[in-house]
Amino acid sequence: MSLVDTLNAQMRLPVIGAPMFILSNPELVVAQCTAGVVGSFPALNARPASALDDWLSRIESGLAAAREADPEAPIAPYAVNQIVHGSNDRLDHDLGVCVDHRVPLMITSLRPPGEVVAAARDYGGHVFHDVISVRHAEKAIEAGVDGLIVVCAGAGGHAGTLSPFALVSEIRRFWDGPLVLSGAITRGEHVLAARAMGADFAYMGTRFIASREAGAVEDYKRMVTESTASDIVYSNLFTGVHGNYLRGSIAAAGLNPDDLPEADKSHMSFASGGESASKAWKDIWGAGQGVGTIDEIQPVADIVARLVAEYAGARARL
Ligand SMILES: Cc1cc2nc3c(=O)[nH]c(=O)nc-3n(C[C@H](O)[C@H](O)[C@H](O)COP(=O)(O)O)c2cc1C
Repeated sequence: MSLVDTLNAQMRLPVIGAPMFILSNPELVVAQCTAGVVGSFPALNARPASALDDWLSRIESGLAAAREADPEAPIAPYAVNQIVHGSNDRLDHDLGVCVDHRVPLMITSLRPPGEVVAAARDYGGHVFHDVISVRHAEKAIEAGVDGLIVVCAGAGGHAGTLSPFALVSEIRRFWDGPLVLSGAITRGEHVLAARAMGADFAYMGTRFIASREAGAVEDYKRMVTESTASDIVYSNLFTGVHGNYLRGSIAAAGLNPDDLPEADKSHMSFASGGESASKAWKDIWGAGQGVGTIDEIQPVADIVARLVAEYAGARARL
């Protein structure tokens, strides 16, 4: 069986809940996996580093309890996101803990993840890598990844600028392995569209911010439900890498969303997960252009049930 088929056999919908700095926690991940979509979190969210082992144990016991309660229900595997960058001084530690737990899927960001691939291979884990261009995709394939996550225009957090139609088609010319599409995917019909254009899975971050389980303050969740695509600002000021943020949170921090300076790259590092990055992401709220379709704060189970119904409805209409 291919990896795509193996994963789908454990899922209700071909969706991966994307890792989100600060917001993704064990409760969100367990809720996503038990609802039948892959749940994930950045390893850096577990603080201090020694908490990662406990987070993984909580996720595993949550999933085991759900399996025992309903052995027939599809329970998706979980994933841990590793930021591969010189400024992430936790990478060796976090990778070691993930190897000990035999984490089923690792999602890597920024640099080609050779060391993560080697570590995962040893215990039969898989690695999917985030890319925003053909060049990044080629480098990730050289590093031996099992899957590519194609981050296109409009995605929440660090985002690319290319149209999904353009980038998926170009990457599909040389990559027939697992391909995940990301960027403003918030509805079930979008998931079907992603598959129709050549992706195997949809990657959804923003859709889960306004969930009961996400670790965001209520004002953040509410702002997601009240915003539309025109409220999303693309800037590199906050981390040194271009990303999408909620206009309202930038204004609330006393900055002019329409006149933001360029980042001073020597002082900012998203990858470090250090003080400046944490502060930026606590005050300045990331979200993608798909916010306009999100109207209420719901439990993850209800969000996924709605996605499943929308997906089925879209299939029936075609
Ligand atoms: C608030 C927020 C924080 C994010 N943090 C991370 C992160 O720590 N690591 C990562 O690889 N991607 C991160 N992302 C990007 C997501 O994993 C994913 O690419 C994106 O959410 C997909 O686009 P969408 O939000 O339009 O669904 C973040 C996104 C958001 C909205």
